[in-house]
Amino acid sequence: MKKLLDLIKHVASLVAPRLLGWVPKRFKLLYPFYLAGQLHTVEDTHMTPALPAEFDGFTIAYASDIHYGPLFHREEALALFDRLVALQADLTVLGGDYGNSPENALGFFELIPPFPKDRQVVAVLGNHDYGPDWPGMAERLRAQMEQKNIRLLLNQTMLVIRGGTTLAVCGPEDIRSSQPDLEALAREAAEADFVLFIPHSPDIIPKALESSLRFHLALCGHTHGGQLVFFGRSLHSSSVYGDRYRAGWYEENGAYIHVSEGVGTSILPMRIGTRAQIHRLILRRVA
Ligand SMILES: [Fe+2]
Repeated sequence: MKKLLDLIKHVASLVAPRLLGWVPKRFKLLYPFYLAGQLHTVEDTHMTPALPAEFDGFTIAYASDIHYGPLFHREEALALFDRLVALQADLTVLGGDYGNSPENALGFFELIPPFPKDRQVVAVLGNHDYGPDWPGMAERLRAQMEQKNIRLLLNQTMLVIRGGTTLAVCGPEDIRSSQPDLEALAREAAEADFVLFIPHSPDIIPKALESSLRFHLALCGHTHGGQLVFFGRSLHSSSVYGDRYRAGWYEENGAYIHVSEGVGTSILPMRIGTRAQIHRLILRRVA
């Protein structure tokens, strides 16, 4: 019975996007499709005493789970790029799952123009972007991203330095598709004043909190906010923790975690009870 269900799921995941991808997202009458097409910019201020004064007012633009392909088209992808650039953030973070498949992820980065050279743009990969079945894909994506002025972090840390203080951006490999190296990130971020952790999936959070990595703020995606949510509960969760990290802000062991509901959709171009969103986050220091 389980094998039959898995087979049905697999076939549905292949057929549904092609069948439903053509449904227009502009008619309110087709509300779940309409909702999937309404991209919101969510503004948040994160107040923390851990932030050095030099980074007070630092802005982050964040977008995750674009899922470019049959369900998220060329015009939507280009409009998303323009919106991200228009946010004029100090740091732009791309949270993974750029395509419905690794080929679509590559297609997304071929399609978009380069980010302006004066911007800092970092990215991590999500479970839809690569994995053991796609050898060499991470490096192909890295090369494509470099042409668009995007720095891909694969178990790597980027340091942003202001007036002698350091903000470390720690990008692990995806917990489902690869092997995150939290101890390597911990070593690279050891001297930093503020640590921003940017895993694709919040499923890494419990493991990260047990590791040597001391992060202040994590920005994640992956869950799509549950995508189809009824009475606060998702119909299906892509997280091994169910709805524990479905969407929004969490605090665990003194670390703050934000989970975005994401830009695109998976399998079905529909949302109920969730919003397609990108984020503009302002970091503020409080005494
Ligand atoms: Fe996703």
